[in-house]
Amino acid sequence: MTANRSLKLVERDEDGVDLAFRADVLAGLAEPQKAIPARWFYDDAGSRLFEDITQLPEYYLTRAETEILKARGAEFATLIGPGRAVVEFGSGSSLKTPLLLSAIAPAAYVPLDIAGNFLRASAADLAAKFPGLPVYPVEADFMRRVELPQEVAAMPKLGFFPGSTIGNMVARTAVDLLRSMRTTLGTGAQLLIGMDLIKDIAVLKAAYDDAAGVTAAFNRNLAVRINRELGGDIPLGSLRHEARWSETHARIEMHLVAEDDLAFTVSGEAFTMRKGASIHTENSHKFTPASINLLLLAGGWEPLARWHDRAEQFGVILAEARLPRSAP
Ligand code: AVI
Repeated sequence: MTANRSLKLVERDEDGVDLAFRADVLAGLAEPQKAIPARWFYDDAGSRLFEDITQLPEYYLTRAETEILKARGAEFATLIGPGRAVVEFGSGSSLKTPLLLSAIAPAAYVPLDIAGNFLRASAADLAAKFPGLPVYPVEADFMRRVELPQEVAAMPKLGFFPGSTIGNMVARTAVDLLRSMRTTLGTGAQLLIGMDLIKDIAVLKAAYDDAAGVTAAFNRNLAVRINRELGGDIPLGSLRHEARWSETHARIEMHLVAEDDLAFTVSGEAFTMRKGASIHTENSHKFTPASINLLLLAGGWEPLARWHDRAEQFGVILAEARLPRSAP
């Protein structure tokens, strides 16, 4: 069974230009340190390139998280129990969601995603794999509080947020998201979340600058998209992909670095870049057990259990939204 509550979430002008995309790009390119939100990576080409990244030998994240989900099913079943509505933040097109669903015997599955076509395809996929399971896809921006379907209102909830996508947010945005997840799911809910761990810097950098150049193509595709959708003339051949480690922020940053002095236009607006200047395109924060706990607690979630893969590269954490009580 599937139910679709469709809303128009993307506003376009008469030429079909995504207004939020244009606003973010023009504002970001006008900043002294140019920066564009990473969510704009994911057009069709970018989504395909990301799927390719997850298969790369250097990109350990997906394999490590899948290893944990495969190995810990019995513990999930004990700690989470049956009968929950699993609410996935971002639709699960991957192998990960079936691993969780088959471990815990849920009462319903509610995938949330802003991309309606992706959402419907992956919801149909899941519904076919789990014939008895009610599936209620909701097209929504999960960065805000989401109204869940009436059908799951009375069920206990489990939020599922794999992939270390939380790491793509700066701390204050991550806390805002965790708090809005708590509001969406309610007191007594649990959250199963994937978070990538700090490790050898060379290993981290290689995961974001692979030998085959797939991550470079993923990064550069953002400029390709700007040129195509916003009538830009960014000289693509003069932008180099770079993955940097920031010790202060405990994150890998992706940049597009100008190899020459550049001048270009986007949507009729003129921009310049000095040789060596960059457009900052993504943050991917990495965590320690202590920073995981601090972030979750700041977001209103009490950590209950944490599992690592055998190589200790990645963490999956189960947390609970306890009744708020007054602090001493
Ligand atoms: C989606 N997200 C968790 C990925 C990451 O690892 O930060 C996106 C990505 N960027 C470059 N490679 C993968």
